[in-house]
Amino acid sequence: MAKPCNCRRWLLSIGIVVLVLAAVIGYISWDRFFRDYGQPSFVSAEERFKYGSIGAEFDAGIPYWIFYVLPRMFPEKIPKPGGLAGFGANWEQGKELPIGFTKRRIGFDRVANNCAACHVASYRKAQDENPVLVATGPNHTLDLEAFFRFLVDCAKDPRFNSDNLMSEINGAAQLDWIDRMAYRFLIIPITKKRLLEREGQFRWIYRHDFPEWGRGRDDAMNLTKYFMIRWKMDDTFGPTDMPSVWNLKKYKHEQGHRMNFAGDSNDARSVVMDSALGLLGAAPHDKDDFLKQVDWLLDYLGNTPAPKYPFAIDEALAAKGKSVFDANCMQCHASVRTGTRIPLAEVGTDRGRMDTWSKQAAIESNKVVRDMGLERLGLVEEPLIGYVAQFLDGIWLRAPYLHHGSVPSLRDMLKPPGERPQVFWRGYDVYDPANVGFITQGPEAERAGTKYDTTLRGNGNMGHDFGTVLPEEDKNALIEYLKTL
Ligand code: HEC
Ligand code: HEC
Repeated sequence: MAKPCNCRRWLLSIGIVVLVLAAVIGYISWDRFFRDYGQPSFVSAEERFKYGSIGAEFDAGIPYWIFYVLPRMFPEKIPKPGGLAGFGANWEQGKELPIGFTKRRIGFDRVANNCAACHVASYRKAQDENPVLVATGPNHTLDLEAFFRFLVDCAKDPRFNSDNLMSEINGAAQLDWIDRMAYRFLIIPITKKRLLEREGQFRWIYRHDFPEWGRGRDDAMNLTKYFMIRWKMDDTFGPTDMPSVWNLKKYKHEQGHRMNFAGDSNDARSVVMDSALGLLGAAPHDKDDFLKQVDWLLDYLGNTPAPKYPFAIDEALAAKGKSVFDANCMQCHASVRTGTRIPLAEVGTDRGRMDTWSKQAAIESNKVVRDMGLERLGLVEEPLIGYVAQFLDGIWLRAPYLHHGSVPSLRDMLKPPGERPQVFWRGYDVYDPANVGFITQGPEAERAGTKYDTTLRGNGNMGHDFGTVLPEEDKNALIEYLKTL
């Protein structure tokens, strides 16, 4: 009688132990790999914009300690000295990560990006001054292409293995046994694999027949094509400047306004949503949370005004300039045409960017987003015809000019295309109030910047010759007026 009873008790005890063990292991795995610790609250909307996670850590994140040791292990793969800062990311004193880089613990600490990586500007009034950072301004210093290549090139390097990375990580971090094991046997090998997978999608950034994007630009619509709808690489190339994203409420879809440089998106909500999806690299982990983020961004970007020109303005001269503007520029830049697409034949600028996108790409992208269960007006399902006549608010901080940044300053914009600089350096942040733009020539600009050659593909500085034959004094007055916008 006693025997079976004993057996049952044994079985029961073993069963309980197994269950408890499974629960503990399950809990630890969940806690160390998947548990979302969320993020702290931010002291201001600007801080949230600069450092807040939009959820990209789930699918596009890089484990924090790998991200931390890569620049130390592979400094030769960074274009300029200074670790991550060598890519031209804006880095505030005392902060753990550059602006636009977010940290969130989902099981383990992960790093990803938010909008601020590309949409915060920096400028210096003089070389010996600290940079002024302008949230929602265009990041004209970031060499994104070099950063993309860096991650893939590190993963391709045979030195990227668990032994080497762990010895670096152990020198910098106090990880416990579980984390060390997780890094060594799972996190490092998986990260390597995922970075290597990116190489296929990034193939076009290794093409020798395409010039470098250089600082402050990315090939936005090709990124969308190759990442969102997984198109086969075609032969188009059209990097554009990082634009300013302040005061978005000026765009009114119902008045025919379109967004992005070639007017390929219908409204701000669509662009914000698509940009966020681009960063997530996958469908949102939590749709409600995602939509809340989108609304928050729309509100923040909608209502943040363009920054004021930070140097003195000659008001009398600017007043004269207003009449020059009204006579020569208003018809496109302060009228019903503003924010709408101007045919390429009329503006005459480089067509590279326009050709990177198409009606078919719009249809397919809209479908991908719809299939995620997200509603938006979306991308314009029509062939592209030209470029949007920009609103000029805060134009002083949007140099270099035109959609691809082929013209260094406002003064150069008012020169006939043949007299505009053919070669200059982008990405140096010392401001040039005399010409209204950044300093783009000389040893400092060359040291900090990337070379921009207007004779290369997608880089042409032709077209937009409005106001180029005005008398010199009218040009001076017009430039003074443009500073006030
Ligand atoms: C990797 C750099 C990068 C990141 C990150 C990025 N953007 Fe952009 N954004 C761009 C570029 C480049 C364009 C211009 C695209 C074009 O027309 O060619 C752009 C265009 C825009 C525009 C259109 C501006 C206009 O006036 O038409 C808005 C709005 C915008 N981005 C918002 C966002 C938001 C919101 C996020 C974050 C969810 C974000 N972006 C993330 C690079 C970036
Ligand atoms: C026929 C319409 C038209 C007229 C007239 C016109 N523009 Fe433009 N402007 C455009 C278009 C379209 C673009 C965008 C072109 C591109 O990026 O390729 C543009 C772009 C610009 C930009 C660059 C914006 C940026 O963010 O880089 C500036 C600056 C500018 N215009 C100033 C002027 C001034 C000053 C005048 C008058 C002397 C003027 N424009 C007259 C249509 C016009």
